[in-house]
Amino acid sequence: MSAMAQMEKDSLVVAESMAATDTKKGLFVVFEGIDGSGKSSAERSIYETLANEMPGRVILTAEPTETWLGDCVRRANKDDSSGATEALLFVADRAEHGVRIAQWLREGKIVLCDRYYASTIAYQGAALKGSMGVKSAIEWLKAVNEPIIVLPDLTLLFTIRVDMALERVKQRSGISKFENLEYLREVDLIYRSLCMEDPTYFTVDSSRPLEQVIRIALAAIRAKL
Ligand code: TMP
Repeated sequence: MSAMAQMEKDSLVVAESMAATDTKKGLFVVFEGIDGSGKSSAERSIYETLANEMPGRVILTAEPTETWLGDCVRRANKDDSSGATEALLFVADRAEHGVRIAQWLREGKIVLCDRYYASTIAYQGAALKGSMGVKSAIEWLKAVNEPIIVLPDLTLLFTIRVDMALERVKQRSGISKFENLEYLREVDLIYRSLCMEDPTYFTVDSSRPLEQVIRIALAAIRAKL
């Protein structure tokens, strides 16, 4: 490719990514937390409440997505692909998802998203800990995500003691407590450090009864509307 053609291509990419981040009209809310934190139950109920109040204005979405890229992520997980492969597939899925999220936000929608880039930083950050050479896995993951994400207006982080969360997961799917406790502890630590760094995070103690969790999370969303 000639230098001129490359420059044109680069400026197109910049223009596209600027268009993707020009999302002032809507509200982008992300739900995060370790497995068993109860975020998905709270999210469904919050979606129903808001969708009733504002018909046609609320979108419920999730990662990994229900697209062929999301299928790749699930396939990589099933096939036991390397941690780096899995991380990059999560990011590829997110890059496409981001284009749709940006469009919804431009249309003025309230987008509720079950997991987003913080999931990659926390889960893959824990899985890849110590395996990325000089850079930490977290730094690498942040750098790979940064250019492709739409910045959330609010990230609700559902927190619960890791052993309690794992107990809930065990009841659901019968996994062994010891297989995942250390890993989830690490994931939880990374989530909490992200929360400390970023004022758009809001922590919800999800060991409370579900109605209270929903009420607190809804209030945090309404405060941004
Ligand atoms: P969930 O649909 O029950 O929230 O589960 C999705 C699983 O995928 C959960 O264990 C977290 C994991 N995950 C990652 O490891 N990295 C990511 O970037 C995302 C979006 C999910």
